[in-house]
Amino acid sequence: MSRSGRDGRGPAVGSPAPRRSSRLACALFGGLLLAFAGKGPAESGPQAPHPVPRPFGVSPSVTTRSGVVVSATAEASRAGAELLDAGGNAVDAAVATALALAVTYPQAGNLAGGGFLVARSRDGSLFALDFRETAPAAAGRTTFAAPGADSLTGGLAVAVPATVRGLEEAHRRLGRLPWARCAAPAIRLARDGFVVPGGLAQEIVAERKRLLRFPGSRRLFFPGGKPLAAGERLVQPDLARTLEAVARKGSDALHRGPIAQAIVDDVRRTGGILTLLDLASYRPLWRAPAEATFRGLDVVTMPLPSSGGFLVTSILAQLAVAGGAGEPDLDTPEGVHLFVEAARRAYADRNEWLGDPDCVAVPLARLLAPARLAALGASIDRARATPSASLPSVEARAEREETTHLVVATPDGEAVSLTTTLNGVFGNASVVPGAGFLLNDEMDDFATRPGVPNLFGLVQGEANAVRPGARPLSSMTPALVLDRRGKLRLVVGSPGGSTIPTTVLQVILRAAAFDQPLPDAVAAARFHHQHLPDQVSVERGAVPPAFEAALRALGHAVQERESIGRVHAIEVLPDGRLVGAADPRGYGAPAAARAASAPRSAP
Ligand code: DON
Repeated sequence: MSRSGRDGRGPAVGSPAPRRSSRLACALFGGLLLAFAGKGPAESGPQAPHPVPRPFGVSPSVTTRSGVVVSATAEASRAGAELLDAGGNAVDAAVATALALAVTYPQAGNLAGGGFLVARSRDGSLFALDFRETAPAAAGRTTFAAPGADSLTGGLAVAVPATVRGLEEAHRRLGRLPWARCAAPAIRLARDGFVVPGGLAQEIVAERKRLLRFPGSRRLFFPGGKPLAAGERLVQPDLARTLEAVARKGSDALHRGPIAQAIVDDVRRTGGILTLLDLASYRPLWRAPAEATFRGLDVVTMPLPSSGGFLVTSILAQLAVAGGAGEPDLDTPEGVHLFVEAARRAYADRNEWLGDPDCVAVPLARLLAPARLAALGASIDRARATPSASLPSVEARAEREETTHLVVATPDGEAVSLTTTLNGVFGNASVVPGAGFLLNDEMDDFATRPGVPNLFGLVQGEANAVRPGARPLSSMTPALVLDRRGKLRLVVGSPGGSTIPTTVLQVILRAAAFDQPLPDAVAAARFHHQHLPDQVSVERGAVPPAFEAALRALGHAVQERESIGRVHAIEVLPDGRLVGAADPRGYGAPAAARAASAPRSAP
């Protein structure tokens, strides 16, 4: 793994995220690595040679002695920082950020989706909150059997919304400032508006067909019949009223009463089966965090119904057996080979065996038995890809993405890692008329039809079949990394559907196991394998042709895709400063709390 000095930090907060640069075409990796000027065009200052190629440009980052928040929009990150400035803790800031994302990042930020939160309190206690949506009580194996039954768009796609219940529960147990204070920035952003960024405008156009089908979405995203353009101010009075109700009454504002009725009406009108009782009965669940160790690091993440903790545990255990010191070196084809072979084996288990542990018996102890994982690791051939067909499992296809991850950390060791989603971009595409928010299409995360791949190309087993009240298996992997003394080292997560666990793990390996500066670890090229389809996904233009050719020579099919994941992460430096880094693949940004910011560091 290429390392560089720990003082080589990214640009100060507020730096624009430079887009992919054509310079990349000539970037060489690993053994072929040449000094690479990795700075984006928008930065000023001397261009330092850099050993880690950054295909999408430089990660906007901040280094600070105060608290820090990183999320998918600058406004939402500032909303969190505002709570820290007001004396709030990491959970207060995370709640404010998540609610502000529901306003400023409608592609994935949400009130009517779900998510997972992993947190550490200042006394070192660890928490995992499951606010995953559930299948409506009337759902079952035949829900998607009829031709045309749609698990991505419209009413049938909607699982029971869970986000506000989850945020409320996290705040009830771990928050410090009043709930209404946490909602205040989001209300302000909805009422006063925010400037539509290019990324949102592009996604509205890309999804116009789906969005235009629903009156609420037409009204919000196509005012006067035209798609919202970059630079326009988006004011959302309906959403502001909904958020005001949430601030006053908590999650019951959404789960009971007139807004609940509006959700049910919209779902029913568009072919769904959600009921008022489903909404009223939804409960988030505290779970024991999943923990995996690797070279003295403790990786704390989400247990079932996320597959994230399982995959991280399995891949790391295999790598511990199959890799030598300093491996896997993700800057070399050989290192990527090792990593994806471990991923291939872990995902084969995921797709076959995992589901909601409260509804099906998952043989976790057997799957994660150290001897079994060691045997899986030992079965990796360092010189040759193992065809997925020779491992037990099924078939699959291609993917798309949209979810969002936020991170908060404070100098006293508090941390929140929170991934939230509507599932596909803009969820089920229907904005609830009068209430101003989109609904999820999380039903697609179930194995909705035997043998048919879902949005992320995953073909999953009986364990993840649609069952009334069940939580669909997820890939969301909010993570914390602790060092061998239990001190917080890294807070990290990503969207990206099935690619989330491998994305998060690559950043953990780079930043925590191999000491790359966090902004580099976030910006570096990423790879993915999920057993089926039997291919290594590689970001287009991110590695030179020779790198892909080397993977092919090892027996891999290489599939290029636009990008993989959008990581937001915070690292704790040995001197106690915090580095917040946003992924240059998106337009997210870090925000530091006001107190005691360190001088901006040179990249
Ligand atoms: O829970 C899951 O695994 C998916 N619903 C996550 C969706 C996602 O990450 C979409 N995009 N980036």
